[in-house]
Amino acid sequence: MCAQLLRVEQALSDWVASNLPANSSLPVDLAVDLAPVLSQAMRYAVLDGGKRLRPLLVLAAAESVNFGHTASSEKASQAALRAACAVELIHAYSLVHDDMPCMDNDILRRGKPTVHVKFGEAQALLAGDALQALAFELLTPAPEVVDTAVQATLCRILALSAGCHGMAGGQAIDLASVGKLLAIDELHTMHRLKTGALLQASVMMGAACGTASPAAKLALQEYGAAIGLAFQVVDDVLDVTADTATLGKTAGKDADQDKPTFVSLLGLDASKAYADKLLQQALAALARTGLGNTRALQALAHMVVNRTT
Ligand code: IPE
Ligand code: IPE
Ligand code: MG
Ligand code: MG
Ligand code: MG
Repeated sequence: MCAQLLRVEQALSDWVASNLPANSSLPVDLAVDLAPVLSQAMRYAVLDGGKRLRPLLVLAAAESVNFGHTASSEKASQAALRAACAVELIHAYSLVHDDMPCMDNDILRRGKPTVHVKFGEAQALLAGDALQALAFELLTPAPEVVDTAVQATLCRILALSAGCHGMAGGQAIDLASVGKLLAIDELHTMHRLKTGALLQASVMMGAACGTASPAAKLALQEYGAAIGLAFQVVDDVLDVTADTATLGKTAGKDADQDKPTFVSLLGLDASKAYADKLLQQALAALARTGLGNTRALQALAHMVVNRTT
């Protein structure tokens, strides 16, 4: 596993705590069993699974804007790690709620029974709520850890991308669109909001942990928009082409639930071609940033489009 992924996994495990006293001498498995059920549900939702694409984007973007800067590196690195985990917590919460019977009614996520299947609907609802709050708690440590101006910027980017004009708003359009034939621009809007916004925010939160010119930030924003949309186009494709065991979530759900998707509107081949076009747009935007180290961001753009899960 790459070093950044290990850092994220460790930090998530540390920060999504089991709420037992830190000095508890219980064996780990037993300690988890005895933790309050809400903490168990939160850890279950976040740990043991997930590609961690959003945290990796945060760290890669932070790396690109901090390239060659060593003076501010400790605070920048702490801000980036907290931002990486915060965005993953929002994502995990969105998955818990997305899977509930009132939304997509899914029973399998990340190869495990969904949170409401395992813990009940009320705990799933609360786990999502608490993960959202914890995301903002992570972004607001003491000023010695992360500068308050950076904290405020990170909170603002994340809040905007998760709320009514971002993920939650997109999810509302998704639910209202079941059984409807959307126009292509309406589908773009839905996907940009429900999925693209948080991916773009991941890039911009990373960028907020360092220094970049307005032109470089604009180009990073364009990169984030392109991969954000590409991500959901590929999610729509995989729902049709991949199997449940590979995906770790039930395949074929979109057609079963009569959801408008890129595949239902454009067909499979045109959707794949569109994802490839978005990849080229993302790479072109990255080249326009003029930043010194964009290798990880390039690799992540390829992963978004060429992934199999
Ligand atoms: C799935 O996201 C939900 C969408 C936004 C389409 P991911 O494919 O990133 O899910 P994990 O985090 O790897 O499980
Ligand atoms: C979910 O989109 C986007 C979220 C905000 C969670 P989907 O409903 O297509 O995600 P999957 O396919 O269940 O992972
Ligand atoms: Mg959904
Ligand atoms: Mg779903
Ligand atoms: Mg899907």
